[in-house]
Amino acid sequence: MNDLTLARAVHILSVVIWMGGVTFVTLVLIPTLRRSSFRIDQLTIFHAIENRFASIARVMVLLAGISGFYMTYKLDAWGRFTQIQFFWMHAMVFVWCLFFLALFAIEPFILKNHGRIVKDRHNITNLKKTYIVHSVILVLSLSTILVSVLGAHGFFY
Ligand code: HEM
Repeated sequence: MNDLTLARAVHILSVVIWMGGVTFVTLVLIPTLRRSSFRIDQLTIFHAIENRFASIARVMVLLAGISGFYMTYKLDAWGRFTQIQFFWMHAMVFVWCLFFLALFAIEPFILKNHGRIVKDRHNITNLKKTYIVHSVILVLSLSTILVSVLGAHGFFY
């Protein structure tokens, strides 16, 4: 029982650090850069800060995944993935896969090409696309946290 509780604590701690960072980047960093007078340096500042956060997020994604699968194993909860009332388990794994792919596979590509991707007809579009993508991911992640806490405490059955 103790190791299950410990795994739950590690799971939540890593999710808090990881999603706290995503919230900060989306609601504080990007809007501040978009409104600021240092437009020219926008991308450089954004990359410097998000790069540093990406290293922290990589560790947190691994910790959340390991602790999550460990809890699933300990609770012998694999069968939940075939039951609709446990949709929140699918949501957690889905969000985890998104970030895993983004941080471990896509990001090296995105970082190399970010400047080109966010440019529109040779002008930097004021981090608009970056803001939209981060906002969608944030809403998805926060909704998943909400339904996971409700689900883990019996709200859906
Ligand atoms: C590989 C991915 C993941 C797996 C296998 C996984 C698995 C689990 C399991 C087994 C539980 C315990 C459920 C229970 O007590 O009945 C849990 C709880 C939880 N997980 Fe995950 N999880 C994963 C990723 C995530 C992600 C990405 C988030 C955040 C977006 C998240 C947020 C939570 C929350 C908030 C709880 C509820 C804790 C509580 O209130 O006791 N998990 N997870």
